[in-house]
Amino acid sequence: MNATIQRLQSPLHGSLQVPGDKSITHRALLLAALAKGESRIGGLLRSRDCEATRSCLQALGVRIVDDGDDAVIVRGVGLGGLRKPLSPIDCVRSATTIRLLAGILCGQRFSSVLTGDAQLLRRPMDRIVKPLSAMGAKIMDSDGHAPLRISGGGLRGLTHRLAVASAQLKSAILLAGLFARGRTTVYQQGPARDHTERLLATIGAAIRIEGLKVSIEPPECLSPFSLQVPGDISSAAFPLVAALLLPGSQIRILSVGLNPTRTGLLDVLIDMGARIEIENRRVEGDEPVGDLTIRSSELVGTTIGGNSVVRMIDEFPIFAVAAVHARGRTTVKDAGELRVKETDRISAVTSELKMLGARIEELPNGFSVTGGERLHGGHVDSHRDHRLAMALAVAGMLADGEVTVRDAEYAADSYP
Ligand code: S3P
Repeated sequence: MNATIQRLQSPLHGSLQVPGDKSITHRALLLAALAKGESRIGGLLRSRDCEATRSCLQALGVRIVDDGDDAVIVRGVGLGGLRKPLSPIDCVRSATTIRLLAGILCGQRFSSVLTGDAQLLRRPMDRIVKPLSAMGAKIMDSDGHAPLRISGGGLRGLTHRLAVASAQLKSAILLAGLFARGRTTVYQQGPARDHTERLLATIGAAIRIEGLKVSIEPPECLSPFSLQVPGDISSAAFPLVAALLLPGSQIRILSVGLNPTRTGLLDVLIDMGARIEIENRRVEGDEPVGDLTIRSSELVGTTIGGNSVVRMIDEFPIFAVAAVHARGRTTVKDAGELRVKETDRISAVTSELKMLGARIEELPNGFSVTGGERLHGGHVDSHRDHRLAMALAVAGMLADGEVTVRDAEYAADSYP
């Protein structure tokens, strides 16, 4: 489906709430399934990716029922209670689902197959297969990709240095560690999102965090919980950048998750001159939350690399739109991981924004932008990537002519 977007003639005003955090929704569903008893998850993201996690768990014998519009009750089966699935489990397009679930299924005394659609089958799985195999799981992959045929059980603890700063990889190993004999320790390359660790600690797992080192001991059982999922900062990024760039705008985005492993975009934009204020800082469940006020701002270019990249890894499509409108040059380095997301985001974001007149160049591990010029209209492609679809829609709100985004409906993977 195509979407056509026209330049907004007036500033943005008002307040909004964005959908629930995708990463936290996946983890809450998975850990509620492994807890013993009934958990309630409110503020749940009902998007295609999170629905994939829900239906995978149902295929493993977990009952999940709706409790109003945005909440579910999960009847947790306990660490030993999952049932052998009758057929291959379909993770659809969700890499978080397949990688985290692989960690859990490696700990089960039954065999299972994890698969997904063509896009998911292109994502690298060797990064999880290697450490999970070192823990004793038997996994057959297809040349480093899904489908994954898993014969689980008999895991032993592992000490492992992560090859990439990936929260999905870290979480897969920690979740397998729930079922392993002895302690499992991971050393991270950078501060990848820590939602798994936070939730595990809250529900009774013996998890220890010292800087970039995380250890877990297998627990007797996990306690059920009640959780309100905060708004997703990665979804808030779209109205936030739109308000910064549309002159005269002032908006509030309420109840946004502000976990420091996720707020890289805010720090970088503030550094570039963005007027963003955080109010009502609070802790809900185990996550920091706050309300954002955003006023339109004149941005100046910057250089990003290292840990900032890890802390804003999903925000580069919309960050590129901000960089195009900033004065001077912006360079993104150390971001090679963007090449193995839903699409190659370095190549896709560069080629699509060029179609609208941006001066943006691909680098091996990032991109560079010479900003300060207005975009023009044109036809662009989402590459079936939800964050690219959303970023191009914001570009369309700012461009001088009409922008048509092909396959725009993929935005629903995270922003239904
Ligand atoms: C996620 C981790 C990140 C991120 C993805 C969600 C998660 O992926 O890009 O959208 O929920 O753990 P990587 O682990 O591949 O960095």
